Amino acid sequence: MLWSLLFITLIGNRTTHPDRDDPGWETIKLDDKVAFQSSFYTANGVNYTADRALDGDITRCSHTLPTEPNTEPISWWTVDLLGLYEISCISIYNNYQSNIDLSGAWILIGNSSERNAADTTECATINTTTSGENKTFNCENGPKWGRYVTVYKNTSGFVILCEVTMKGRKKELPFKLIKENKTWADALYHCREEHMDLVSILDKETQGWVGLEAQKADTPFVWLGLHYSCTLDLWFWADDHCVGFDQWAPDETRTADCSMSGAMNKGGNHLWYKKSVYDKYNFICAV
Ligand SMILES: *[C@@H]1O[C@H](CO)[C@@H](O)[C@H](O)[C@H]1NC(C)=O
Ligand SMILES: *[C@@H]1O[C@H](CO)[C@@H](O)[C@H](O)[C@H]1NC(C)=O
Ligand SMILES: *[C@@H]1O[C@H](CO)[C@@H](O)[C@H](O)[C@H]1NC(C)=O
Ligand SMILES: *[C@@H]1O[C@H](CO)[C@@H](O)[C@H](O)[C@H]1NC(C)=O
Ligand SMILES: *[C@@H]1O[C@H](CO)[C@@H](O)[C@H](O)[C@H]1NC(C)=O
Ligand SMILES: *[C@@H]1O[C@H](CO)[C@@H](O)[C@H](O)[C@H]1NC(C)=O
Repeated sequence: MLWSLLFITLIGNRTTHPDRDDPGWETIKLDDKVAFQSSFYTANGVNYTADRALDGDITRCSHTLPTEPNTEPISWWTVDLLGLYEISCISIYNNYQSNIDLSGAWILIGNSSERNAADTTECATINTTTSGENKTFNCENGPKWGRYVTVYKNTSGFVILCEVTMKGRKKELPFKLIKENKTWADALYHCREEHMDLVSILDKETQGWVGLEAQKADTPFVWLGLHYSCTLDLWFWADDHCVGFDQWAPDETRTADCSMSGAMNKGGNHLWYKKSVYDKYNFICAV
């Protein structure tokens, strides 16, 4: 009995790949995500746009323009996963075509759409051909957390991707959009009743995640925990944090009337606006 168990364990170890077969890794659904790239090639009236790498059709490819001589040879393709994922591997399929050469390109993972940002890390380098083949790249040094996955080529040429797939798992962020229309005080009360608080945004990264939630709102603005004290002539966060980082819309002056609170724009760059506390908006609680 014991021996046969040991035998099965040994066989099992030999045939499984710990990463790829981990039941926690799922194929991330990509056809509802947003892709963009440095430029797009056009031929016969077809624009070879970034979304073609995610459409599930291996015959439709994305294709950037070749980089111009005497310019920085940088071309890239990025997908915004619209959430935080732990990414274990990325597979790239390309049709057979003699000019497809992704070698030397990098797969980058980060929380910022800027490729050289401090919160972007290298997952793997594409050190093999993808022409006519489906190749899988595991992140070196283990899975990486991030919102954006980029194929980044900083040697001359262009980026062609016929189909990109990836495996990972989603992490729920500690922010919750409440799709109810409430005044600022009622929103604050609602969050606190559920053992949460209206969200505070203390850095750029949180601004990015909260903006993602705001995008799903059904009101043009969402309440944040940002409140104005007219006696102190001061903006502060409902959880008592000071306002250091800020994202005010350019035309918003900092001084306000009494009864003003801060709301985030659902669209655009999710800038902050001062609004009457009696306006009714959806709101974001922090868990
Ligand atoms: C291709 O892109 C050009 C330039 O952006 C645009 O004017 C044109 O409508 C696009 N064509 C198609 C078929 O989407
Ligand atoms: C992205 O943000 C998450 C959550 O804050 C963090 O765990 C992760 O390390 C970040 N990713 C990178 C590449 O910095
Ligand atoms: C590509 O890189 C991986 C990981 O670093 C390595 O295991 C593999 O042997 C490399 N392949 C080639 C063709 O160099
Ligand atoms: C490429 O391989 C990955 C991993 O096995 C798979 O999930 C994906 O569907 C394959 N893509 C194509 C286009 O065959
Ligand atoms: C190309 O980009 C990679 C990934 O960010 C980086 O490690 C490498 O230093 C870059 N090479 C050049 C020549 O800029
Ligand atoms: C909240 O207000 C918006 C318009 O500002 C409306 O479209 C939406 O249906 C309202 N939601 C609820 C739950 O009443």
